[in-house]
This record gives sequence, structure tokens and C-alpha cells, in this order.
Amino acid sequence: MDRKKITIVGAGHVGAHAALWAATKELGDIVLVDIVDGVPQGKALDLMEASPIEDFDARITGTTDYKDTEGSHLVIVTAGLPRKPGMSRSDLLAANTPIVRSIVEQAIKYSPEAIFIIVTNPLDAMAYVAKEVSGLPRERVIGMAGALDSARLRAFVAMELNCSVEDVHALVMGSHGDEMVPLADYTTVAGIPVTQLLPKERIDAIVERTRKAGGEIVSLLKTGSAYYAPSASVMEMAEAIIKDKKRIIPCSVYLQGEYGIEGIFLGVPVKLGKNGVEGIIEVRLTEEERKALNRSAESVRSLIEEVRLGEG
Ligand code: APR
Repeated sequence: MDRKKITIVGAGHVGAHAALWAATKELGDIVLVDIVDGVPQGKALDLMEASPIEDFDARITGTTDYKDTEGSHLVIVTAGLPRKPGMSRSDLLAANTPIVRSIVEQAIKYSPEAIFIIVTNPLDAMAYVAKEVSGLPRERVIGMAGALDSARLRAFVAMELNCSVEDVHALVMGSHGDEMVPLADYTTVAGIPVTQLLPKERIDAIVERTRKAGGEIVSLLKTGSAYYAPSASVMEMAEAIIKDKKRIIPCSVYLQGEYGIEGIFLGVPVKLGKNGVEGIIEVRLTEEERKALNRSAESVRSLIEEVRLGEG
């Protein structure tokens, strides 16, 4: 089997750690791209030099030139500003929209067959920008959000129950932000609904912590946002695609009527395989959950309106 080529744009905290996970999992050869000359080259070389110790075979190169990304199977976009304390989503939107736009424009020229995974925040709006700019079908532009939000919920449940994270599964839908929709009914421990294992107030507290988990890290770090779990989450998706695993992972995808929502990116359970999005699963929701999902959709819609106004 030919080795896959994975381009990671943004060699900052998230991008560099994504490269590390991808390399150790031997998912393919990695091209790190950044706008700051020297940084992607330096980090790529440093990673190559770790390979004999950690025993992974991957060619890792760094560049500022998109020509080097030619023929990529996957393009992962992590470039842009991370959220800092006090920064509104609108500030982040204004800063990151032109960055994502120019990256996708350049990357698609050299890799017209690639699947794009967007990580830059505000996530659902940036995925929309990537789809608009690339003109790609929705199967090939996917936002990373639910994988991370669900991982956080899983970690919190395992911490609370003092049990292995391996046995905990969770589903978080909706937008990547305060309006996300963690679904307690679909959170299980070895198949046992968490609602049978924890009292309602503990579940509510865990759900609330999950909603604010990104902000919790931002307020601790003070100078940036989370990167270990985000980079691991994006590689969970990349692995599912590269190995055609057909995994079911919540991702932000362009909805065309699923859940009664149309024309925006929103987190829903998705089947990921070699073609990217290979299916969208519509789960049963309670009245309350459906309302929460609609609120989530409205918050994404208003951000997308801002993107459109900016294009004005
Ligand atoms: N092209 C390529 N790289 C760029 C560009 C650009 N136009 N603009 C900025 N970058 C690079 C920066 O030089 C930096 O190396 O993107 C990198 C961002 O890295 P960090 O500042 O460390 O940010 P990080 O924590 O990795 O977060 C990046 O991912 O999770 C999201 O909210 C987060 O939007 C943020 C993104």
C-alpha cells in the first residue's frame, strides 16, 4: 500500500502535536506548513530525529510553499489564532476567516482530490468557509469538534466513576462552543447508560463542565488554548479516513436537511471512511435536546452571516 500524504497547515501547538500523533501512528508521510519560515522545517526535522527512538517510519518535512503539499490525501487546517481570555467569537472569526480562506485556496490547487479536516476556530464557521472556498462536496470538508467534545465528556465520566476511559462512550452534538449538545442518554459505560450509574446532578455537572471545557483550559493556560486533546481528536478522524475504518465519530458537517437543518455546518454523528463522510446518522432526540440543537444551529448561522457580511 502506498503511503498516504498528510498535509498539516499550522505548525503551532495543535498542528505540531497532530504531526506527532500521526507520525507515531504511522498514518503516512507528513508535510507541515506554516507562514513563519523556519518553524515548520525545524519542527519537522526535530520530529524526524525522534523517529529512531520511538521507532516510527514517516517522512516528515516542513515548508512554507504549498507546492510541497502536492497530491495530499488529507489536508488538516490548524492555522490561525487560538482563543485567548477575553476574546469574543466574533474577534476570532474576523482574525481566522481570511487565514482559512487563503490556506484552502492554495492547498486545493495542489491537492484537488484531498479530504479537508478543519480545526481552526470558530470551528463550524471555518469549516463553512473552507467548503465555500474549495467548492468541494460536503463529504470532503469535515470539521473537528465532536470528537474532542466527546473525548472530554468521556474523560470526565471516567474520572467521576474511577473507571477506564476505554469503556466510556459519549456523544456530543451541535456547535463547537457553549451551545454544544452533550447527550447524557447516549453516554454509556460498557454499554450501561450513565444515567444508571450517576445521579442526575452529577451528570448535569459533568455536562456543564464539558460545555465549558475549552474555556477551562484557556483560563488555566492564559496564553493560548488546548492542544493535546484537539490534536489527538483530529488524528482519530484522520486514522478513520486513512484506514477506511468506517468509524462513527461526531463531526461538524454541512447539513442538507438532516435534523431539519440546512445550509450550515453542525456536529452530528458521522461515518468516516476513505471517502470522508460516508453517512450521517440521525439519532432520536428528546424535545429538549432538539431545541438545544436548534439553538446551537442558530448560533452557527449567525456566525456564518457575519462571514457573509465580511465578504460584502
Ligand atoms: N498560513 C499558515 N500558517 C499560519 C497562518 C497562515 N496564513 N497564519 C497563522 N499561521 C500559523 C502560526 O504561525 C502558528 O504557527 O498557525 C499556527 C497557530 O499555532 P498556535 O498559535 O500555537 O495556535 P494553536 O494552539 O495551534 O491553535 C490553532 O486551532 O484549536 C484551534 O482555536 C484553535 O484556531 C486555533 C487553531
